[in-house]
Amino acid sequence: MSDQIESTTVDTSILFTPVDLGGCTVANRIAMAPMTRNFAQDGVLAESAIGYYRRRAEGGAGLIITEGIATSDIGAHTATVPHLTPGPAADMWRRVNDDVHAVGGKIMAQLWHTGLGRMREFAADPEQPSIGPVIEYLPADTPLAAGGIHPPGRAMSQADIDATIDEYAAAAANAQAAGFDGIELHAAHGYLIDQFFWSQSNRRTDGYGGDLAQRTRFAVEIIQEIRRRVGPSFPIGLRFSQWKLPEHYTVQALADPAELEVMLTPLTQAGVDFYDASTRRYWETEFDTELTLAGWTKKITGRPVIMVGSVGLAGPLDTAHMDVAVRPEANLGRVVAMIETGRADLVGVGRAMLSNPDWGNKVRAGDYAALVPYDVQALASHW
Ligand SMILES: Cc1cc2nc3c(=O)[nH]c(=O)nc-3n(C[C@H](O)[C@H](O)[C@H](O)COP(=O)(O)O)c2cc1C
Repeated sequence: MSDQIESTTVDTSILFTPVDLGGCTVANRIAMAPMTRNFAQDGVLAESAIGYYRRRAEGGAGLIITEGIATSDIGAHTATVPHLTPGPAADMWRRVNDDVHAVGGKIMAQLWHTGLGRMREFAADPEQPSIGPVIEYLPADTPLAAGGIHPPGRAMSQADIDATIDEYAAAAANAQAAGFDGIELHAAHGYLIDQFFWSQSNRRTDGYGGDLAQRTRFAVEIIQEIRRRVGPSFPIGLRFSQWKLPEHYTVQALADPAELEVMLTPLTQAGVDFYDASTRRYWETEFDTELTLAGWTKKITGRPVIMVGSVGLAGPLDTAHMDVAVRPEANLGRVVAMIETGRADLVGVGRAMLSNPDWGNKVRAGDYAALVPYDVQALASHW
């Protein structure tokens, strides 16, 4: 790829047309990707988060997907992620939502239970073991484990499963009450819901384990319960991925489009309004076919899809290289082409939007020279 930022001749106007996500009209095709910032205390977002999200909405993100919000104490990644419980935590989100709405933006809450991916040593209650489908995320003797494994925890009982489903539904209802425009379930990257999806991490022998349809059951029951609690017109999105943490970037959890269909069809029937297909490079094709993961998801479900990964940047997300400055890159023409050809509906922008709160406005103006590289310094504060 070229070192140059592409010329201003790319016609990006399609990015600035509205799109409907389950009844929520988003003004343009640009979504701020969910990004954990670790500035919350006692589950309450820092005051500085209000301006941080408002600036991205003002700066041209039609949709903001929040950082992962914990659905329970045991599901919280660390002690510094926000919660959404009624009281100070929900009140702070209400202020964020009011500000985003005041500048014409839409905002959806990403609901996150980390399961065995919880960082127990940084958790509010490190004495409590993490919970997941089985005790160990990956068996220590699998070749995959060489890439890194989450530490062991406790296998969820039926009572744990029931309680966890209820917590997701309560969090969604709290999101609705706090003025969010919808929710996105974090079912990607090897966290709890994904731990149930993936054959390697779901080695249960009850009705929540076994074949892919059974491994999808936990997510289906969460979506059904959320739908029951929030009613028919509150948008539910779902983010999923092939890749897993920690560092399992080449995993192909789903072998082919038929498997993707087995997973996505019951999720759609349960009530998912849109999908967020999490990849590290949005243009890479999947399953040795011409389509990307987002493209396949759209084809199978007929639902709107967000594509994501290295938009406007030269290098993919990689936790081992988070400190590397990544320059703006010439890939906007492909973003436009994929939306024009119906392979995706929105584009998620992560790191580029941390460095450029007004990423959308700069792109709309064709002012690519004003785009600054992603630098890890962007994580140091809520600027
Ligand atoms: C600092 C940081 C925090 C992130 N936190 C989350 C998160 O809470 N939930 C999630 O689904 N993805 C999270 N991601 C992944 C991003 O949403 C996005 O998928 C990824 O960064 C690739 O997009 P990009 O290349 O535009 O940065 C995070 C990424 C970064 C850089």
